[in-house]
Amino acid sequence: MDKLLKTSFLGKTYPSPLVLASGVLGLTADSMKRVLDAGAGAVTTKSFGLEPRKGHPCPAILPFDGGLINAVGLSNPGVDEMVKEIRKLREQAGSSSGIFASVFGRTHEEFGEVTRRAVEFEPNLIEVNVSCPNVSSEFGTPFGANEMDVEHITRIVKKAAGSIPVSIKLTIHCPSLIRMAKICEENGADAITAINTVGPGMLIDTGVMKPVLANTVGGVSGPAIFPLALKAVYEICGNTRLPVIGTGGVRTADEALQMIMAGARMVSIGSGVYYGDIELFTRINRDLRSWMKERDIKNLKEFRGVVHE
Ligand SMILES: Cc1cc2nc3c(=O)[nH]c(=O)nc-3n(C[C@H](O)[C@H](O)[C@H](O)COP(=O)(O)O)c2cc1C
Repeated sequence: MDKLLKTSFLGKTYPSPLVLASGVLGLTADSMKRVLDAGAGAVTTKSFGLEPRKGHPCPAILPFDGGLINAVGLSNPGVDEMVKEIRKLREQAGSSSGIFASVFGRTHEEFGEVTRRAVEFEPNLIEVNVSCPNVSSEFGTPFGANEMDVEHITRIVKKAAGSIPVSIKLTIHCPSLIRMAKICEENGADAITAINTVGPGMLIDTGVMKPVLANTVGGVSGPAIFPLALKAVYEICGNTRLPVIGTGGVRTADEALQMIMAGARMVSIGSGVYYGDIELFTRINRDLRSWMKERDIKNLKEFRGVVHE
């Protein structure tokens, strides 16, 4: 394992701090294996629930100058299919491969139920998606906006996850992100993933005079949200002791470095993969290494959270 990029996170060691974010290429063993081969330290599955879901009609994902807008609507094949796919990934990628399972539920109890099933394949982490912004027409306001919901779901999932660590994936759309992160910490969360997409927002196709998304509105991701995600990571790292997976707008080594300097333990990338290519992981790893070598920096610890000092 590369000494420079070696990353310890919740008792396990990963070959790189880079992670595939949930929702992009995280549905099949084959695509996740390709991402691991390209140099990601770990991959996060697409969020899955108890039952298969079709999600919203197309067009559901569109690029714009600042990144992507999406209203995929949590489409997924359900926990039983995902467990099979992830078992396959373990067989293909080896027992030490980094696999994070992203779960969601329609009710608090469903979060517990899907977690109980997901732990069957022993993921390295259960990531709890309480923050998807584009299913509000069906699910109402995301649970991540409400402190009591986050408190309850954190407790339920922790109990269901047993010895598997749990990260709560937060949204910035809540009255106080710092208070929300502290609630996760006080209720047993092992980590925070920050942030989910922002919004929802919307774009109009002036040619046909209609919203570009069939769902009209969708979550915004990519470069447009990088400063928001970075500040969220900075605030959570400054106010809790929980390790953070920094997520939002990262496409380059410089942006990954900024996340780590703000305190992130791992850095996950979603949209960057969608409109780039998976070699992005190889390139960012290479550029991180060069940046560290040029400064004679021996490991990530030397500059993690440096802007808090
Ligand atoms: C097409 C698409 C699908 C997504 N699906 C999920 C999902 O299923 N679960 C989840 O927690 N986040 C999902 N996200 C959010 C990403 O994991 C990530 O938090 C967000 O996009 C910000 O990171 P990025 O700018 O690197 O994409 C999705 C994002 C995109 C672009």
